Amino acid sequence: MAGNSFGELFRITTFGESHGKAIGVIVDGCPSNIEIDEAFIQSELDKRRPGQSKITTQRKESDTAQILSGVFEGKTTGTPISIVIPNEDQRSKDYSHIADKYRPSHADYTYQMKYGIRDYRGGGRSSARETAARVAAGAIAKLFLKKQGIEIFAHVSGAGQIETPNVDSSDLQALLQIREDNIVRCADPATANEMIDFIDQIRKNGDTVGGRISTIIRGVPAGLGEPVFDRLHAELGKAMLSINAVHGFEYGSGFDGSRLKGSEHNDIFTQENGKIVTRTNFSGGIQGGISNGMDITFRVAFKPVATIMRDQSTLNQEGEETTISGKGRHDPCVVPRAVIIVEAMAALVIADQLLKQKAYSNI
Ligand SMILES: Cc1cc2nc3c(=O)[nH]c(=O)nc-3n(C[C@H](O)[C@H](O)[C@H](O)COP(=O)(O)O)c2cc1C
Repeated sequence: MAGNSFGELFRITTFGESHGKAIGVIVDGCPSNIEIDEAFIQSELDKRRPGQSKITTQRKESDTAQILSGVFEGKTTGTPISIVIPNEDQRSKDYSHIADKYRPSHADYTYQMKYGIRDYRGGGRSSARETAARVAAGAIAKLFLKKQGIEIFAHVSGAGQIETPNVDSSDLQALLQIREDNIVRCADPATANEMIDFIDQIRKNGDTVGGRISTIIRGVPAGLGEPVFDRLHAELGKAMLSINAVHGFEYGSGFDGSRLKGSEHNDIFTQENGKIVTRTNFSGGIQGGISNGMDITFRVAFKPVATIMRDQSTLNQEGEETTISGKGRHDPCVVPRAVIIVEAMAALVIADQLLKQKAYSNI
């Protein structure tokens, strides 16, 4: 199956499926001498793992990462880093009812059409379990970016009709603390409580709901991005749209910006402590596909999880009408767990672009 690698210079390849022996990732191109804090990698995986709270799936996986290669005495050696995460809590029988039926709005029908064979257990390779491998790789990218003074922060800014008000983003570490103090991972405590009650109610009703994640990348120097096809926002867009259940990506002012006049929307240049900045940041830190040194901001929209705990009509592999009932342990809303996946994919994009800038440009 092609399409399992991402990035060019900082390149990852993930492997494995939901109910196989393990999932994992090879990270190739990570610079040498980056200090690898294994506890940090594990803490990142813990933010994605299932069974964290009443508003995530009740599947239990410890998601313990084992680094098999590429790290010596706590530092990267410049050789391929391979990380394996064994699968533990596989209840394949939870999925026998979908062996020959297509779950509405899931990947069963399209995988069957494309490959002519389908590992239906847990959704196989289409399962978001694969994203644990991305989070492990993203943690390595974050350790590399930290050395360059680059920070990435994402949080849940919407669930169903609930929207988080704008939060003061001057101190990202403080926001991270607030986010990690609530199970929905929202940077506004009052909205977090509202979201938790709402998602819990949705879960009790056997239904699911969509949500939104907002991200800030701070400390990126001006100059990253490779016009014309590999514009920085195009790379971020591809990264985000490659995450399971993502239905939308916007950067800077996004769709709202398209409702404004140029006189309202232009980011006016000014000087601040000898540095060129802009007074506003409707551009989301990217102009002409290249970072301008301001915060990079974007938003990702996730659809409601396809598996609902209700009977739905569908077709089986013979094309006959049948009923499918919701079984197994599923997420009522993916955004609390997806925050860390969004951060990981953003880190992988910026790490790759940073290496390209060093390779191709005169800086
Ligand atoms: C963190 C996360 C958890 C998810 N959990 C579930 C789940 O429990 N049940 C489910 O049906 N889909 C879940 N999904 C979504 C499916 O993986 C996704 O809808 C499916 O692979 C089809 O792909 P598409 O929605 O991108 O078209 C989850 C997605 C993410 C990002």
